[in-house]
Amino acid sequence: MPKVNIRNNMQTSMNPAITLKRLLKVLFAVSGKKLIFVGICLIISAIVTSGASIYIINMLQTLLASGKAEDEIIKSLIIGVGVMGVVYFFGICANVIYPRIMAIVTQDFLADLREKLFNKMQDLPIKFFDNHQRGDLMSMYTNDVDAIRQLVSQSLPQVFLSSIMVLVIFLVMLYYSLWLTLIVLACVVLMLVVVKAVSKKSAKYFVKQQKSIGAIEGFIEEMIHGQKVIKVFNHEEETKEKFDKFNEDYFVNSSKANTYANILMPMLGNLGNIMYVLVAFAGSVMIVKNGLNVGLNGLSREAITLIPIVVGFLTMGRQFSVQVSQVSQQINAVIMALAGAERIFKVMDEEPEHDEGYVTLVNAKLDENGEIVETEERTGMWAWKHPHKADGTITYQKLEGDIEMVDVDFAYVEGKTVLFDVSLHAHPGEKYAFVGATGAGKTTITNLINRFYDIEDGKVRYDGININKIKKPDLRRSLGMVLQDTNLFTGTILENIRYGRLDATDEEVYEAAKIANADDFITRLPDGYNTMLVNNGSNLSQGQRQLISIARAAVANTPVMILDEATSSIDTRTEAIVQRGTDQLMKGRTVFVIAHRLSTIRNSDTIMVLDHGKVVERGTHDELLENKGPYYKLYTGAVELD
Ligand SMILES: Nc1ncnc2c1ncn2[C@@H]1O[C@H](COP(=O)(O)OP(=O)(O)O)[C@@H](O)[C@H]1O
Ligand SMILES: [Mg+2]
Repeated sequence: MPKVNIRNNMQTSMNPAITLKRLLKVLFAVSGKKLIFVGICLIISAIVTSGASIYIINMLQTLLASGKAEDEIIKSLIIGVGVMGVVYFFGICANVIYPRIMAIVTQDFLADLREKLFNKMQDLPIKFFDNHQRGDLMSMYTNDVDAIRQLVSQSLPQVFLSSIMVLVIFLVMLYYSLWLTLIVLACVVLMLVVVKAVSKKSAKYFVKQQKSIGAIEGFIEEMIHGQKVIKVFNHEEETKEKFDKFNEDYFVNSSKANTYANILMPMLGNLGNIMYVLVAFAGSVMIVKNGLNVGLNGLSREAITLIPIVVGFLTMGRQFSVQVSQVSQQINAVIMALAGAERIFKVMDEEPEHDEGYVTLVNAKLDENGEIVETEERTGMWAWKHPHKADGTITYQKLEGDIEMVDVDFAYVEGKTVLFDVSLHAHPGEKYAFVGATGAGKTTITNLINRFYDIEDGKVRYDGININKIKKPDLRRSLGMVLQDTNLFTGTILENIRYGRLDATDEEVYEAAKIANADDFITRLPDGYNTMLVNNGSNLSQGQRQLISIARAAVANTPVMILDEATSSIDTRTEAIVQRGTDQLMKGRTVFVIAHRLSTIRNSDTIMVLDHGKVVERGTHDELLENKGPYYKLYTGAVELD
């Protein structure tokens, strides 16, 4: 039932470095200036924090080595404290300011990311949506974006801050003592080895955890959507069991991920303690080696200057290890965010719907010589504007609604051809019907006419023009469609009908509803045309929803109409009413009609019978009945239509 694997497919090759670079590039493009300011704040904060050790060393050295009078020492201590106070003040300011700016930077970035992702989705071909699970795409806007929020608002500043502190402390340590620095470094290398080993394990499970979330969300979405089917077939128990499995997977992966992540901190803490002891030990050895029992107080001058350094190193070593832990704490968040970012970028890199079309649809009128010219006014007359690259001229051709297909073969998936050698010619104003069992390829033909899917050059022509030359929006503007699956949006009935042509007046909407015979039931609703539709119009009957989608196509007032099973959910009595409506709708237009009930298509100019993607018969109703072929069998009920 659920297509769990899709998420796995979506993240084949992980390349965190490239993803991070790309993320940073976008981040800087969105709020570069603010980020520079944040960077300055972080540098101040880092230096101030590491400055404490330098202060301790200096103070102790002053105390131990100066030999100055008591009040002079106190005076220099006070000056030192004053200086530190000022320095810390700046540090505090920096620490208060940068998270605020970072919050704005993050939200700007995420808003931008969501916008880009959404815009991208609008540009993607139908094929993309046919091949991806809805819940999974949804989770990009929630889970993945949230993981990225964590990365940008917390992990990145933390890593930057820690890196600077590590650098500053390292330089200070190196300045005071090479040997003690080496000891600290050795411990840090050990810590990094541990971090690497542990996070390698946990990272695996964190990525698995993300996958489990996608899978579980996909399942829940499908379950809510299919609730009626589940109930009808008594699948509640089985559904619960399936959910338990998804839940269990999620639990196992996230608990493993977090177990590994949770042992990291204590381990690093212990290693930090070992380092503390080692530094203290080595420092003491150094002091002793530099001459115990030599000077006035039993210590040589070198030994006395060493004491503050060793004390300073104890603090610095501690800070060093804390920073290493801080950074390693972010690793999993970074990995999850980069996995999310990679999924999002992958969608952004999807091939957008191609459109090399250059023939456009324009308002037209006849000038005094009877020639077609372009005009701004709404004349009700339309023309194809056809620029010719060769000589730079533009020709206009009246929009008539003549559709021709020549020997079309088509496969959604390579190797699995669903249309074989289909040819047809619908002249302007003709009614052309497709008949055939489910899966015969009827909807597929309409998918090619409106270019949801593309085929090679020159095989489908609209008014004699290769449809690949026509700009897609203009092509689709000239086609009215009632799709097989009705889809209504949240909004009023009026808005939903007007969706067919946004500049339609209220009167035009009522008119369209009358043509579709929807007016009758709409006006009987308590709120009439202002009735709110929610959840794909679930507050209406299936047939009523279909009537609205017919009205939506009617308001578009196009020369070509495609009605895919538009009357399949309407009862026979209502169908007769809708029939009259659609007859009126069809008048003067080229119409492709796919119908379940053969009564609907009886009066078509041509009926084309399809079987497994092949045209097996063609003619008028009477001709086909006379032939006593497949159509006759369908009509007389010898063969059932799906
Ligand atoms: N998006 C798709 N991807 C792959 N195969 C598809 C897709 N849509 C339809 N098909 C296949 O194409 C064939 C024709 O389907 P369709 O044109 O929808 O039939 P119908 O005559 O019922 O409208 C079927 O075998 C179906 O499985
Ligand atoms: Mg179909």
